[in-house]
Amino acid sequence: MTASIRDFRSGDRSDAESVVRVRRAALPFTITTPKGVAFELACAHPAKRHRILVAEGPDGRVIGTAQVGIAHDSTEPGQSYVNAYVDPAHRGLGAGRLLLRAAEEHLAAHGAVDVYAWVLDEPAHRAFAERHGYRPSRSAHFLRLDLTAAALPELPRDEDLPAGVELLPGSAFAADPRPLFEADAETTSDEPGDVAASFDDYEHWLAQTWHSPSLDKELTTVALVDGRVASFAAAQTDGATRYGSAMTGTLRAFRGRGLAKLAKTVSLHRARAAGYTEAFTGNDAGNGPMLAINEWFGYEICATETRFTKKLTKPKGRENL
Ligand SMILES: CC(C)(COP(=O)(O)OP(=O)(O)OC[C@H]1O[C@@H](n2cnc3c(N)ncnc32)[C@H](O)[C@@H]1OP(=O)(O)O)[C@@H](O)C(=O)NCCC(=O)NCCS
Repeated sequence: MTASIRDFRSGDRSDAESVVRVRRAALPFTITTPKGVAFELACAHPAKRHRILVAEGPDGRVIGTAQVGIAHDSTEPGQSYVNAYVDPAHRGLGAGRLLLRAAEEHLAAHGAVDVYAWVLDEPAHRAFAERHGYRPSRSAHFLRLDLTAAALPELPRDEDLPAGVELLPGSAFAADPRPLFEADAETTSDEPGDVAASFDDYEHWLAQTWHSPSLDKELTTVALVDGRVASFAAAQTDGATRYGSAMTGTLRAFRGRGLAKLAKTVSLHRARAAGYTEAFTGNDAGNGPMLAINEWFGYEICATETRFTKKLTKPKGRENL
């Protein structure tokens, strides 16, 4: 056994940088920053029992990492997640296996019944998951748009907007972000997936989503209809070159009017003007409308992940719980 597992050291900047290095190497389509990693742990809801595990190689260098916790906002109790990443340059040292074992022990000890793990659609990754008792379920795509070359739809002029429609940056809601919380809650509950999510805790949303250091409130764009929030394109960035879609949503009453396309058009133009060169997003393979919108912008699928799932057995002595 040449790798060892420990918890991520919050407050240790170099540990956060190591986690980012590994996440970027293993999954280059996500937006991840040292500040974001520290924040992810600090603001996790206590019921999530969220941990960031770290695998060290024989020389003490961080070669793997995993996010582990309970999906506390799932509508079904006992759902949990583990997403493990090993630096491709350091595979075969047992880091993945040890991360998974530590994660499953943690989850089982906190009452998890089902565990979900995102696995890249590559034969070695799928075989690893299957060897550890995981079975495939839904897939999701990562999509990429080269902002330096994309022919974005024209930036809409105010006079061309449909009657009653207004577009504002997310920062315009700084004094009262509650309408964005309500829009996020309604649309997230409609997002296709195998772990149904719903949330109603405004204070927690403020702490975790609105105050996230990755959320870019200037690039986030909101479409209002007659003064009411109808649609939004939430943006996150790494502060350097990468822009990511955090969530795009249109309230049920306003769907099919082109509002998501409008909000995202403005957001992408602002991102390009701010110097971002690559845009990324992730969509469930069954999300026809969102995939159609992203393909319309020129995004192309750059990778596919499958969600693998496994039933956990209860730890000894807790079988009757
Ligand atoms: C996806 C969503 C944001 C779309 O919002 P919207 O304001 O209705 O989108 P628009 O009107 O701008 O564009 C809709 C486009 O979807 C496409 N579309 C709609 N239904 C579709 C379907 N069933 N299959 C394939 N494409 C579809 C069309 O291309 C349509 O564009 P067009 O009418 O101009 O041809 C909205 O349905 C939503 O909030 N869903 C739940 C949350 C979610 O899944 N968000 C994405 C998370 S990644």
